[in-house]
Amino acid sequence: MNRDLLLTRYSPTWLGRILECHEVLGSTNDRARELLDEMGPRAHGAVIFADGQTGGRGRMGRGWHSPPGLGIAVSIALWPKGPAEALACLPLAGSLAVLHALSETAGLEPRLKWPNDLLVDGRKISGILVESRLHGARASGLVVGIGVNLNHREIDFPEELRATATSLLLATGKAIGPESFAASLLEQLSVRLAAGLQDPQSLVASAAPHWGHRPGDTLRVALAGTEIVGTYAGIGSDGSLQLDVDGKRRAVHYGDVTRVRPAGA
Ligand code: BTN
Repeated sequence: MNRDLLLTRYSPTWLGRILECHEVLGSTNDRARELLDEMGPRAHGAVIFADGQTGGRGRMGRGWHSPPGLGIAVSIALWPKGPAEALACLPLAGSLAVLHALSETAGLEPRLKWPNDLLVDGRKISGILVESRLHGARASGLVVGIGVNLNHREIDFPEELRATATSLLLATGKAIGPESFAASLLEQLSVRLAAGLQDPQSLVASAAPHWGHRPGDTLRVALAGTEIVGTYAGIGSDGSLQLDVDGKRRAVHYGDVTRVRPAGA
């Protein structure tokens, strides 16, 4: 990421006054955490990009493949003032920002897969990992890490991801400059992260048209060594996945979703 070029396209607001663009890092989330440790609240809104990561992390203990120069790996350091409950929608604020940036820069219409993956034609184009450190009920620093596949060809993905991953290039046939995408993403994040912190319920409501799940889909959610199977009944106003399980409504707050059967099948 060329920082000077990025700054000709994005004017920092509360987001990006500290803006680091590295060639390679272990994980951008670790660098953002370091800034929070060193600077405390003054790190709020710091943005860290890396062209490649050697130890990119995904959700549920998985890795995130970040080969040099092909995609976006970015982390935002936050020191939010609100209570811990208001933070639950920040991953969704991140996914909505990526969704609108993909729409603005490439005309794509990704679907959201709960909790915060973005899929194009059923394949994953972006994922989000939020890591927080809580002191009592308050978060004393939180990192929103976002990975987006931009200019990957099929051979750029490890073999085990080729059937399930996609990129902006694969989906549109056109490559994009990382600075153009990053500028749009930062604009979106600047608005949506702030909106999420102020009014989480409206943010969750604004995501409604974008979910890829259909009422009646049978979903399996894997969480902490166990699983829940149920029928999709929507997304709660707190961002939880609502499932009907044996005639009872259950709210799921964490886990990994697989569709077992589409509605009506
Ligand atoms: C997932 O889908 O499992 C989440 C992937 C999150 C990847 C991003 S890339 C930037 C940031 N740094 C990391 O180590 N992970 C996140």
